[in-house]
Amino acid sequence: MRKSVALLLLVYLVSGCGQSAPSDEQDVVIQPDAGADTGLQDEPQFPEVWGAPALADENSAADVVEVKLAAQVTTKTLADGNDVEMYTYNGSLPGPLIQAQVGQKVIVHFTNELPEPTTIHWHGLRISDEMDGTPAVQAPIEPGESFDYEFVVPDAGSYWYHPHIRSNEQVEKGLYGLFIVRDADEPRYDKERYFTIDDILLDQQGNIAEFFGSHMEGMHGRNGNALLTNGRLDKIELNAGQNAVERWHLVNPANARTMQLELEGATWRVIGTDGGFLPEPYETDRITLPVGQRFDVEVTYDRVGTASLNSMVLTRDAQGNIVERAYPLVDVQVGAVDREPRARQLPEVTLPDREPTRSETIEFNARQTVTGRLEWTLNGEANPDEPLFVFSQGETVRIRLENLAGPEHPFHLHGQFFQVVDDGRPWTDQPGLKDTVLVPGNDHVEIIAYLDNPGNWMAHCHILEHAELGMMSQILVEETE
Ligand code: C2O
Ligand code: CU
Repeated sequence: MRKSVALLLLVYLVSGCGQSAPSDEQDVVIQPDAGADTGLQDEPQFPEVWGAPALADENSAADVVEVKLAAQVTTKTLADGNDVEMYTYNGSLPGPLIQAQVGQKVIVHFTNELPEPTTIHWHGLRISDEMDGTPAVQAPIEPGESFDYEFVVPDAGSYWYHPHIRSNEQVEKGLYGLFIVRDADEPRYDKERYFTIDDILLDQQGNIAEFFGSHMEGMHGRNGNALLTNGRLDKIELNAGQNAVERWHLVNPANARTMQLELEGATWRVIGTDGGFLPEPYETDRITLPVGQRFDVEVTYDRVGTASLNSMVLTRDAQGNIVERAYPLVDVQVGAVDREPRARQLPEVTLPDREPTRSETIEFNARQTVTGRLEWTLNGEANPDEPLFVFSQGETVRIRLENLAGPEHPFHLHGQFFQVVDDGRPWTDQPGLKDTVLVPGNDHVEIIAYLDNPGNWMAHCHILEHAELGMMSQILVEETE
């Protein structure tokens, strides 16, 4: 019989198991800056990123990255004694890293080895809509079939990829990976790491629990009972040298849970988000990472000792009161090294400063169908065939995201960037280009969207259960140029 692992989050929190994680070599080497890396005359050399294997570029042309991906059923060891049947890309959880430089053409030869149809959506990339992998633009790729995705990557940033049909099941089972697009002049760090901060819902046997097994799952989305960081349920243990400076790419591929992250024992600052580097990096104690969003942080190990990345989770104490607890996801043992931290020169970034020429509202709500089923709606419609709005290419639109329902909704717009309008409320203080923003329950957020990429684009809630239950619509951006 399978060893019954303490997977329920509460138990897991108390036991805080922290054995056998991928180890890491002592990191004391300071790499030179990329410096004179310009243009695409030579095949760009990308930094190594710890976290998952990088896909090998099989094309020797400098302006093309050509890789192979297969979605598969894979038995993964999520913790010692806990093997779970998951879905993976190329057997890897999280999925392999894809890297490209701005302007390169990326060709992904994809094969579906799953027993069900799938597609790949390139979350955040402003590519041609035909390659966006949604049901609006692509027929599902049937089991055993292949599809070649081909697109040019226009903007540097940390993106991710995942399926866009039955995504509540397929993403939960492990189909997600990181996609980094780089500018030629990005600073080199002592190390780059990629962390997927996920949760999964496991049943008593330690397998992926039945989908929509509770009313709560449709209501609030599927909140897991175990935290899964880079495919591990146990704490990840790493090593670093004092004063090393690292760049971490953080992605939340969970179905629903907003992650609250804190770093203890080292210093971090936010240097980038969905759409690339920020004009002004900022320091913060806590990073709120809703599903779908990304943050790039610069971590400086300014002290010898243990640096911990903690997920702050609500749980119950012995008296039954709800309390917040720090749950360590990653421990880095920082050893003494005689050197000074070296400041990195971040690229200069100017954000668009365009006056909106049009204002629209998207209302988030829920209702019950005549058969008593819960349905999530955007502007009163569940999964409409017609676009919510028709815009023309180049339009700048102020959109009020009005949440008329209790649960929070992370809103994601495909194929475009937007900025969050900072109106002084803390959760609207989100600098940088975004493709996803969290709208708190019974509240609103305003965004200014730059609709520069023509096509048929999804606009939806990234709580995957909400999306599946109707909270997924489209906008059309008509080509004008
Ligand atoms: Cu990350 Cu429409 O999705
Ligand atoms: Cu939602």
